[in-house]
Amino acid sequence: KEAKLWGGRFEDSVTDAVERFSESVSYDKALYKHDIMGSKAHASMLAHQGLMSESEKDIILSGLDEIKKRIEAGEFVWRTDREDVHMNIEAALTDLIGEPAKKLHTARSRNDQVVTDLRLWCRDSIDKTVKLIRQLQVALVNLAQKNEGLIVPGYTHLQRAQPVLLQHLLLSYVEQLERDAGRLVDCKDRMNFCPLGACALAGTGLPINRFMTSDALAFTAPMRNSIDAVSDRDFVLELLAANSIIAIHLSRLGEEWVLWASEEFGFLTPSDSVSTGSSIMPQKKNPDPMELVRGKSARVIGSLTTLLVLCKGLPQAYNRDLQEDKEPLFDSVRTITGMLEVTAEFAYNITFNHARIQKALPAGHLDATTLADYLVNKGVPFRTSHDIVGRSVALCVSRNCQLSDLTLNDLQDINSAFEDDVYDFLGVENCVRKFRSYGSTGSECVREQINYWVSKLGI
Ligand code: ARG
Repeated sequence: KEAKLWGGRFEDSVTDAVERFSESVSYDKALYKHDIMGSKAHASMLAHQGLMSESEKDIILSGLDEIKKRIEAGEFVWRTDREDVHMNIEAALTDLIGEPAKKLHTARSRNDQVVTDLRLWCRDSIDKTVKLIRQLQVALVNLAQKNEGLIVPGYTHLQRAQPVLLQHLLLSYVEQLERDAGRLVDCKDRMNFCPLGACALAGTGLPINRFMTSDALAFTAPMRNSIDAVSDRDFVLELLAANSIIAIHLSRLGEEWVLWASEEFGFLTPSDSVSTGSSIMPQKKNPDPMELVRGKSARVIGSLTTLLVLCKGLPQAYNRDLQEDKEPLFDSVRTITGMLEVTAEFAYNITFNHARIQKALPAGHLDATTLADYLVNKGVPFRTSHDIVGRSVALCVSRNCQLSDLTLNDLQDINSAFEDDVYDFLGVENCVRKFRSYGSTGSECVREQINYWVSKLGI
């Protein structure tokens, strides 16, 4: 067995079971790029501070580049007995360049190294996720533009409520995604401080320059407190919380589209390219991708929960428990990536069934609230007009008809405030024309929203 890099004080080697149980290289090798980036910045700083020679630094830098090349060519052998990505790379560097490699870990611990890698990795992952959010926003705006003027029933309690423009509904998701992106960017700004040089927990007596490594790695500044620097994973928690909120938004969209694709609704049809069939029922065409978007939100939330529980009992500074932060983080990011991609694909591959929706619109008295507003305009107090329209709806229910089917006499029998202009306020098209408040579903307001997103997203 190879001696461990930390093996000086040990007489016996760890058992195979312990080695298997405690290794992390099988998954933290995903950090290799950031680990090498951090090591290069660290080596350059050490040379600048006179803690290694320029030529030692140059040999280290080109050795690290060579290792990166081998990893990317699939030629690098990851060794479980070398525990994690950090020791695999350091040991491989020693194999490759010999003596100078032994200076790389000067004034550094894996405790500050791993959390530096992790911050760099999270920073990149946020940039990628934000890009995918933008792409989904574009897909939704595009879908809205393809369906200009289409009125759909708006629901509360999943019961018919008021008519809305489909564009308005789709843009409500675009708004949510905008805040999702904002949360990620906020969390990136807060995480962008450099732990490197905190060493094990206490910093070092060696003359390092933490501002130099922080700058080289494009952090805002070095972290002020070395204990804090190695202790906390709040930045991962924030990222996982932000991802969980994205997941919930996408899950709700998934639920809505799955519902709308049902025979009972029939409001939308996914194309074959985003549907799957049944192994037994030959007629089936299922909207599986959006069901899975809904389903996978569970594991994104699960990852957040895992990390919350992981962190809650830890005393300050590094504890090995923290190694367990990576798999939930990687899984959350991977899952959110897929969810965002697939939802955008779905958006490009569904058709709203205008005729079917048109046929569904008369049911449910979607125009009742607009009718109540009509009476308000005639000077009737709202509570009174609510009651009058309620009685008008009851009449419709008893006759199995719509409000617009009632005659002026019917209406005036209920209340004399009704006049013959009332028919201008009935029916979903009339209703939608009447909405005018800022942010409402009125055609003009929705056009402004579309214009806003088209220019903001550069469509
Ligand atoms: N693989 C470890 C982790 O991911 C690296 C830090 C280990 N530090 C230590 N002192 N054992 O947390």
